[in-house]
Amino acid sequence: MNSTNMPFSLIRQQLFEHYGWEFDSLTDRMLDTALGLLAIELQLTKTDVIKQLPNNSQIREKLLDHLVIPETSFFRYPESFAFLKSIVHKWFLKNKGKKIRIASIPCATGEEPYSIAMSLLDAGINFEQFEIDALDISLPLIQKAQLGIYSTNKSIQYTQLLNSKYVDKHPAGLQIKTNIRKHINFIHGNITQMPATFLKKI
Ligand SMILES: C[S@@+](CC[C@H](N)C(=O)[O-])C[C@H]1O[C@@H](n2cnc3c(N)ncnc32)[C@H](O)[C@@H]1O
Repeated sequence: MNSTNMPFSLIRQQLFEHYGWEFDSLTDRMLDTALGLLAIELQLTKTDVIKQLPNNSQIREKLLDHLVIPETSFFRYPESFAFLKSIVHKWFLKNKGKKIRIASIPCATGEEPYSIAMSLLDAGINFEQFEIDALDISLPLIQKAQLGIYSTNKSIQYTQLLNSKYVDKHPAGLQIKTNIRKHINFIHGNITQMPATFLKKI
């Protein structure tokens, strides 16, 4: 039992039931720290935060904001993007007149859907030929993704992008060009609770 008399296992169970989260790397200490930070943010006690978790989806999602590690980067797993470029023309030959639809779930801060768009454009596919749905449960991350502003100090991939025709220089580093940002359908949502109409579409 922790200081609030609620076993962390119950909180883990809620994370699994509501968000499909099931991972061993989430230690009691990480949970305790996240709950503490959330309590400060909401100006509540940790006990009150924990009491509200089962019935308050806003508080649960805010807890996720303190737990998620939005590990991502541009062209992460480069072989996936090379594969996409290698098959896309064959796909259009087989699916004449159709749009290719790609889902990036979860998209975190947007690097993955932007990398997909840049790969398709690089392969000579135009905007009318593709749609990208990009979903994440974290509102701050989706908002950052929509802005498409990235520091170029993060890693070599970010610095290299400055030479790309798909970005503009920005005081903070770079910004993805407006036509690409506006083309991606960013969605704030929980994949485990998306309506069937959305799931059928992807
Ligand atoms: C490691 S990042 C994803 C990175 C990206 N797909 C990539 O490989 O570059 C994990 C993300 O999952 C999101 N997430 C976790 N549970 C989710 C859920 N149930 N529905 C939607 N997004 C979720 C988190 O907010 C976080 O941004």
